[in-house]
Amino acid sequence: MKKWYAVIGDPIAQSMSPEMHEAWFRENQINASYIPVHVKADELEAAVSSLKRLGCSGWNVTVPHKTAIIPFIDKLDETASRMNAVNTVKVLEDGTLYGMNTDGQGFVRSLQEVYALGETIGNVLVIGAGGAASGISFALEDAGFGPITFTNRTFEKALQLSGGFSSGSALSFKDAESAIGKFELIVQTTSVGMNYARSGIPLDPSGITEGTIVADIIYNPFETDFLRIARESGGKTLNGIGMFVHQGALSFELWTGITPDTRKMIQSISTKLG
Ligand code: ATR
Repeated sequence: MKKWYAVIGDPIAQSMSPEMHEAWFRENQINASYIPVHVKADELEAAVSSLKRLGCSGWNVTVPHKTAIIPFIDKLDETASRMNAVNTVKVLEDGTLYGMNTDGQGFVRSLQEVYALGETIGNVLVIGAGGAASGISFALEDAGFGPITFTNRTFEKALQLSGGFSSGSALSFKDAESAIGKFELIVQTTSVGMNYARSGIPLDPSGITEGTIVADIIYNPFETDFLRIARESGGKTLNGIGMFVHQGALSFELWTGITPDTRKMIQSISTKLG
């Protein structure tokens, strides 16, 4: 029987996940489809039980449901539980809902793929202290990167997040800007600069040391002002397309056991958005 998968969120129309997963199903001759489902915050519980009742095999979870869905999930893997956020649900044979999170690992894979990093990087600066920052930082730490310094508009949140890391510390935006030359990897996780209408930068990266890897998890626009300045200042840059594709590929693997072609997908999305 044909299987089906979904992504739930609000808004959801702009999601590129359906197109990506449908392409991978076709490429791998899997008889399945993937649909976007618009779910508002107060409809989440009903939506989860409908997806289950209607035989959905698994779904992705996006803004604003990643943490709110946890009470309706039967079992969490270690990463989702540590992050307190779920982006992938798999419905097991016996109907158990298994929640996982592939966002952080997706980022690390994208970084390693693009820069063929055989070694990990010390002195990491993470800008932001929300869900994305915490997921990426846990995955970076698991992969051996660090020490990690956190900086955030609301300094207290950076301080709080840094406490969960063995060698974590926190700086204000102003102090991070002054010290920016000492970091070897900088990861921008805030929403500042997303979409052309909201240009701007959280802090100025122009003082980076040449060769510093600077990543922004935003992919629309293709190159944020933050990434452009970093590139013009000698940084090696990485936008959010790779992270998006790799988090999806990890979900696909968890559902089907098959590793999809990420390079081709990154190329095709880059061509579309670039
Ligand atoms: P996500 O899951 O995408 O990380 P989030 O948990 O809501 O989303 O976190 C949003 C992050 O973007 C926070 O670090 C937030 O900073 P504050 O903690 O100070 O709110 C940051 N952010 C959002 N808008 C910002 C802005 N205009 N300037 C600087 N930082 C901003």
